[in-house]
Amino acid sequence: MAKICVARTAGFCFGVQRAVELAMETARQCRPVYTLGPLIHNAHVIARLEEAGIFSVDQPEELSRGATVLIRAHGVARRVYEQLEERGAQVLDATCPFVEKIHRIVEQESRLGRDIVVIGSPQHPEVEGICGWCEHSAVFADEQQLQQALQEAPEKTKRAVSVVAQTTMRRETWKKCVEVLKKMCTNPEIFDTICSATDERQQEARSLAGQSDCMIVLGDRHSANTRRLYEISASLCANALLAEDAADLNGAADRWRGAQKIGITAGASTPAWIIKEVTEMMSEATKFETEAGENFAEMLEGSLKTLNTGDKVTGIVTQIGQTEIHVDLGVKQSGYIPISEMSDDPAYKVEENVHVGDEIEAIVMRVNDMEGTIALS
Ligand code: F3S
Repeated sequence: MAKICVARTAGFCFGVQRAVELAMETARQCRPVYTLGPLIHNAHVIARLEEAGIFSVDQPEELSRGATVLIRAHGVARRVYEQLEERGAQVLDATCPFVEKIHRIVEQESRLGRDIVVIGSPQHPEVEGICGWCEHSAVFADEQQLQQALQEAPEKTKRAVSVVAQTTMRRETWKKCVEVLKKMCTNPEIFDTICSATDERQQEARSLAGQSDCMIVLGDRHSANTRRLYEISASLCANALLAEDAADLNGAADRWRGAQKIGITAGASTPAWIIKEVTEMMSEATKFETEAGENFAEMLEGSLKTLNTGDKVTGIVTQIGQTEIHVDLGVKQSGYIPISEMSDDPAYKVEENVHVGDEIEAIVMRVNDMEGTIALS
């Protein structure tokens, strides 16, 4: 009997979830809400957002005065904030904290007079945004491009250079680029800025693809992180498929129907309902079973809800708010610790003790699947 395994990390990442929630919440109070570029790379989600009164524009010039505009998780260049201010826009900033951290790094390193190298896709909006926070930046998609550029301009190898990665960069490519920089440049400063959600998702895809005779990656073909998951999967599994939804996958049924072990993962902008729709369609078409003999619905449920009250967890601090600290736990729900839980000392200053990017240990106090939150202590 065929066995199926859905990656624990499949679907919306913390940053995307946060941006979509902020847009929906705002649209409930005032419409329309505009986003600079599509909120996420997924045509299904975009259609639902439009129904809710959330529309995408390409440039600040397209906005009327005073419009409500949301900056998506990819972030934007500094000048875009200035343009929005000039137009009197009401700005909601959903830049992912991991991306914001890169903006701060390149801004600071650039002020120190260092050249900035970004390892990533030159046309990707996140990379364009990063380059908009510094002077003298260059972008390279891989180690060959980087090596060639340094060979053609050897004087650059003597300059002080600071290097960051696009958050969704493939780790293998990043490692090779770092090797080139360390070998060829006299003064490189390396900042590993690949986000932990991306790292975990890629590692899980690697492990699943290596054990499966069919590996399915769900996501929009225009999504960079979905395409990277597909590349990783295809390098380890000869029968890797990229599908946008259940209908798409149904069209390629001959690829997965006969498979004995099927792995499924999904990009950071693939909503949970698409994963559920696909897995339900597959379980109707074929009888699947997990290794432990659970039925498929139980297994899917288990893959979408993994934490319980009292669990000890480790996460990454992604945001420090007025009243709570946001923690990425690598699961669907967003974790938060009320600041009152951090110390009994009334003079305690959270900003002096906790920083975005810190690893933090906590205990699960309450899981709220309806709200998609986990209260921590
Ligand atoms: Fe942020 Fe990482 Fe998602 S950078 S938007 S949490 S992929």
